[in-house]
Amino acid sequence: MPARIIALANQKGGVGKTTTTVNLAAALAERSKRVLILDFDPQANATSGLGLAKTEGRSLYPVLLGEKPIEELITETAVPRLSIVPAEVNLAGAEVDIPQMDRYLQKLRDAVRPLAETSRFDLIFVDCPPSLGILTMNALTASDSILLPIQCEYYALEGLSVMIRLIDQIRNSGANPNLEIEGILMTMYDQRTNLSNQVVQQVVEHFQDKVYEILIPRSVRVSEAPSYGQPVLLYDRNCTGANAYRQLAREFIAREKARNQPKPAEAVEPAQPATPAESADSKSAANE
Ligand SMILES: Nc1ncnc2c1ncn2[C@@H]1O[C@H](COP(=O)(O)OP(=O)(O)O)[C@@H](O)[C@H]1O
Ligand SMILES: [Mg+2]
Repeated sequence: MPARIIALANQKGGVGKTTTTVNLAAALAERSKRVLILDFDPQANATSGLGLAKTEGRSLYPVLLGEKPIEELITETAVPRLSIVPAEVNLAGAEVDIPQMDRYLQKLRDAVRPLAETSRFDLIFVDCPPSLGILTMNALTASDSILLPIQCEYYALEGLSVMIRLIDQIRNSGANPNLEIEGILMTMYDQRTNLSNQVVQQVVEHFQDKVYEILIPRSVRVSEAPSYGQPVLLYDRNCTGANAYRQLAREFIAREKARNQPKPAEAVEPAQPATPAESADSKSAANE
């Protein structure tokens, strides 16, 4: 089976994209999945968070330009079964160079799809930068699905609707008609605050079962782990943050299994028309 390619994206910074990429990948590797992280952010936080040095020339930049095969950049990490294609600051140049090229939305897809077709990895995670620029657009064009980490804070829903519109654009433009929503993950949840609870409630109202049941708690151990170059699952094996990411891995795998067993009823039922009371955003989510 080809690897599934999943973009972790949100145009906002600091919402937990990189933390989720690293820790969900580590938790899935713990469960015997072979996972490759593509660090697609010039800030290279996934690279340093996994204890690797940022090295000039070692990023997807030459791969996007067609100057290097992606295989040359695959680097093993301290976590068994978890590999990474690292990033470094020159990757930012791609935002300038790629738009001049033909098929500029397809650069990552062209590089990574052949790798996905080999049976080397089960999952390929793309850790996106906090913007809606060329890199994020390339990630969404290359991916089978998008996992959206959302911080439990005001304006979470507004930020989410921007992403949902972008997903619709990518689908409708023909760049990637089959892009799915893998799931929506609530991060930095603080059960003591009404705000956290209200935000979760609102997001669940709009996106129902797209939202993972596990809420990733705000945890000091999670925020400390990257400075030791480790996923929290290694840094403090049994802290609440590590266990939350293990729970996420369980849900992730359960959804994969459910997806692979299509319900017979689905094939015959016509698509439900959206009710007028629903917002545009909830419609696009319901159509997933
Ligand atoms: N569950 C959490 N608890 C505490 N701190 C967190 C948690 N998730 C992320 N952080 C911290 O928040 C900051 C932003 O997270 P990060 O994953 O880098 O976001 P993004 O990749 O979306 O910019 C980092 O300093 C990270 O360590
Ligand atoms: Mg990041």
